[in-house]
Amino acid sequence: MKDTGQRIPMLTAYDATSARLVEAAGVPIILVGDSLGMTIQGHETTVPVTLEDIIYHTRAVVRGTSKAMIVFDLPFMTYTISPEQALTSAGRAIQEGGANAVKMEGGAHMAPTVARVVAAGIPVMAHIGLTPQSVYQLGGWRIQGRDAQSAQRLIDDALALEQAGAFAIVLETIPAPVAKEITARLHIPTIGIGAGPDCDGQVQVFHDLLGLTEDHLPKHAKRYANLAETIRQAVGEYVAEVGNGSFPTEAQSFKMDEAALAALYSHAGGSNGGVKP
Ligand code: KIV
Repeated sequence: MKDTGQRIPMLTAYDATSARLVEAAGVPIILVGDSLGMTIQGHETTVPVTLEDIIYHTRAVVRGTSKAMIVFDLPFMTYTISPEQALTSAGRAIQEGGANAVKMEGGAHMAPTVARVVAAGIPVMAHIGLTPQSVYQLGGWRIQGRDAQSAQRLIDDALALEQAGAFAIVLETIPAPVAKEITARLHIPTIGIGAGPDCDGQVQVFHDLLGLTEDHLPKHAKRYANLAETIRQAVGEYVAEVGNGSFPTEAQSFKMDEAALAALYSHAGGSNGGVKP
């Protein structure tokens, strides 16, 4: 797609139903992101997410899709201890989760790990810039690469990761001109999130895009729907109708054969046994 100038839309999904819808809408790459720690599990950060959590959700996403590439987001501390640890985790992502590729956060220092996993036949998507698993080290959700020195470091990181064999790279929350420069220098596609319009693709979080997270919308996100309001209204109507007895009606109820019903009354000894005709 990079070669033909087609922009790549990537989106997170965490279950079969949403993944099915996302694929049907034309998304070619689905990320089972560790953002599920926040969107699904209700944590403040992605740090508590485990490998088992992502395996569980990836299996569901795989069951809901047939064409999309499924990328497994390796969680905190499941790939940074050693290249061997990364290989073991990535192997589980593919074999147990059913994913097609893994994603790992980190710059040039992760290049040997990327190379080791790629050498084993597992495609790796890299991720630099604001790497949420390092949120405590970064001192919060801060834009990265704002001065010339740190911007140059990001460019060097991207080149090292490409050299190590990554097939794509996520650029998160970095200035648009830096992302543009990286995109021009790399042969592999860049996938931006808060990295401006010049990346080869974009990635967003399902819940942000569809208005399911109401308390906070990151600057990089755009709400294409307000599903939170739609859900509140629909569930509110359900609550009201159960309360006033207008749900369920005959349309949602099941009939019984007249003869079987009569037999039931007679078995109940004529008193109906509490069963009202
Ligand atoms: O976990 C995630 O959803 C991500 C994307 C935001 C890139 O890593």
